Amino acid sequence: MSRIIMGIESSCDETGVGLVRLHDDGTVELLADEVASSVEQHARFGGVVPEVASRAHLEAMVPTTERAFEKAGLALSDVDAIAVTAGPGLAGALLVGVSAAKAYATALDVPLYGVNHLAGHIAVDTLQHGPLPAPCLALLVSGGHTQLLRVDDIASGITELGSTVDDAAGEAYDKVARVLGLPYPGGPPIDKAAKNGDPAAIAFPRGMTGPRDAKNDFSFSGLKTSVARWVEGATRRGEEIPVDDVAASFQEAVADVLTMKAVRAAKEQGIGTIVISGGVAANSRLSSLAAERCAAAGIELRVPRPRLCTDNGAMIAALGAHVVAAKLPTTPLDFSANPALPV
Ligand code: KG4
Ligand code: ZN
Repeated sequence: MSRIIMGIESSCDETGVGLVRLHDDGTVELLADEVASSVEQHARFGGVVPEVASRAHLEAMVPTTERAFEKAGLALSDVDAIAVTAGPGLAGALLVGVSAAKAYATALDVPLYGVNHLAGHIAVDTLQHGPLPAPCLALLVSGGHTQLLRVDDIASGITELGSTVDDAAGEAYDKVARVLGLPYPGGPPIDKAAKNGDPAAIAFPRGMTGPRDAKNDFSFSGLKTSVARWVEGATRRGEEIPVDDVAASFQEAVADVLTMKAVRAAKEQGIGTIVISGGVAANSRLSSLAAERCAAAGIELRVPRPRLCTDNGAMIAALGAHVVAAKLPTTPLDFSANPALPV
C-alpha cells in the first residue's frame, strides 16, 4: 500500500510544504510543492534577516500547508508520516517548522522524522530523475552552503568530502551583485548580465586551487574581494564599469572551480554520477560547464529543475519518503532543531 509523506521546510527564508507518495516499489511521486518566500522582505538588507524570516514562517506555515493539501486533493487525515528540516539553518526559523511538524504529528498520530536539509537538497532529484545510483557525488551550492558530498545511501549514508572555508557560492553572487549595483538575490541578475559579457575579460582568482590547498574545499571570499577591488580601481580612474564583463568573468571563476573540483573528486572516488543542487544550480554557466566536463569524463550529470533546486518542502518530503522506505527509527517528539546539524 502506498504511503503519503508530508515534508516541512523552514530553515532559511522559504516556508515550504511538500506532499509525496511513496510507492511500494520505493519510487517517490511528487503530489504538491507549495512555497511562500520572504525574500522580498530581505532584499533591502542585502541578505536574510533572521527575525524577519521567523515571523514570516509563522504567518505562512498554516496557509502554505492548506494550499499544499488543496493542490494534492488530499486531507490531513491522509498523511502517513511527517518529515521536517531539523537543521542546519537559522535557529528561530527552524523552530517554527519543527513546532508545526510536532503539532501535526501529535494531532494526526503519525510518525515524525527530523531530517537534514542538505540531504533533502540531494533527495529532491529522485522526484525528477528517479532513484539515485549509489554511490553518487553531490555538489550542493546555495546561499547558505557549498559542499561536496559522497552519497552511498540517501537516507543514512552521506559523507562530506569538502566545503567552503568562508563564503557560500550563492553568498558570493549576492555580494558581487551588490558591488555591481544589481538587485538581491544576485544570482539571477549576474547570470543574465554575464550572457552579454566576455568571461575572459578579467582574470579573477580561482580560490583554493593551489597545490597545497585542500582539494575538496572551496573559498570565494578572495574572489569577492578581488571583484570589489577591481570595481573600486575602475571607479577611481573615472572609468565606466563594464558590468557585463565583470559579471561574466566572476561567473566563469565560480563555475570553473566548482565543476573542476566536483569532476576531480568523482574521478578519484570512481563515482559515475554527479548531482548538482541548491539555488546556484540554476546558474546557466555552471550547468553548461558541468555538462561539458562531465561528458568529457564519462560521468552522468543530474541537475533538478530550478524550482526543485531552491529551498522547498518537496525535498524534505522526498527525503522523508526514503527514510520511511529504509525503515529508519522515528525521531522522538521532544527533539530540538539543530542550527549546525552535520550531514
Ligand atoms: O537554495 P537557495 O534558494 O537558498 C539557500 O538555501 O540559500 O539559494 C539561494 C542562492 C542565492 O544566493 C541566489 O543568488 C543563488 O542561489 N542563485 C543563483 C541563481 N539563482 C539563484 N546563483 C547563480 N545563478 C543563478 N541563476
Ligand atoms: Zn538550502
